[in-house]
Amino acid sequence: MTNYENFDVSHLGAVELFTPVFDESLSFFTDLLAMKEVARIGDSAYLRCWDEYELYTIKLTASHTNGVGRTLYRASSREALDRRVAAIEATGLGHGWKDPEVGVGASYEFEDPDGHLMAIYYDTERYVPADADRPALKNQAAKFPGRGVNARRLDHINYLAADVTASGEFWRDVMMARESERVALDDGGYGAWWYRFQQKSYDVVYSNDWTKERGRFHHLAFSPDTREDILKAADIFLENGIFIEYGPYKHAINQTFFLYVWEPGGNRIEFANAGARLILDPDWPVVEWSEAERAKGQAWGMKTVPTFHTHGTPYVEDQEEIDRAAIEGRPYTPKA
Ligand SMILES: [Fe+2]
Repeated sequence: MTNYENFDVSHLGAVELFTPVFDESLSFFTDLLAMKEVARIGDSAYLRCWDEYELYTIKLTASHTNGVGRTLYRASSREALDRRVAAIEATGLGHGWKDPEVGVGASYEFEDPDGHLMAIYYDTERYVPADADRPALKNQAAKFPGRGVNARRLDHINYLAADVTASGEFWRDVMMARESERVALDDGGYGAWWYRFQQKSYDVVYSNDWTKERGRFHHLAFSPDTREDILKAADIFLENGIFIEYGPYKHAINQTFFLYVWEPGGNRIEFANAGARLILDPDWPVVEWSEAERAKGQAWGMKTVPTFHTHGTPYVEDQEEIDRAAIEGRPYTPKA
């Protein structure tokens, strides 16, 4: 049964993304998604979606590779933060407290069992719009940009993991998130696992990394307002040379309407809209899918694209050729 600790994590905060082509990635987020740069420190740009109440959404960092850096999670209260920190410390996965930094107060840094870097915090900096960015209505964070995809807010993050079951159990038993759906493997364990913090049907997801590397990234998702915005986004990406991997279509699991693209740095970015669907039941029984059920494809029957299972960041050796082979439907032949 659900108890108060299940609400200790309030929501996904901000995510650091690495890119080997900083200027192109920055243009993707600011020009096409209509995100706003609020700070530039060293090799990192801090970018925000227009209706985030906090300062920033993405820390985009120039790097020799792609992939995900640290993910921030906001606790529901100081007491909730202390409870989760104590639980994380007991696992041995804690790194310790970090000083306040851009956008957030003191945070406790840790890693999940797969090695993804994370931190949890409570004190935060609320975004204060300047005159040029002030909304007409005082109950929204900033002016609606009215250009490009108009990404409103971050929705969820999906990590790859060498051991989905270990990471899923960490989120269930240590972070006290609640399961919404999962894919059970025929030979035991889970191939993918969806977790929620409040009434949105998922916030953090793990899926199986076929390479068995640790700490890789599958995608993060932004929420535009409507399904129609996602159709329009596909046209915008088509016109701007952004690779459309999959969609627009409707997921079977959790039923979100989706579009997946690869931003210029190679990281997979999703645009997701759940319609009015929420999970209101505090004790929602987890929905489990078998491998055979998953093989039927997405909601209306279209099969999942092969690159969904091959492409992740940071790239493994020969990642681009592995993806090309998947797209062309031929076996991948490793270089001699
Ligand atoms: Fe997703």
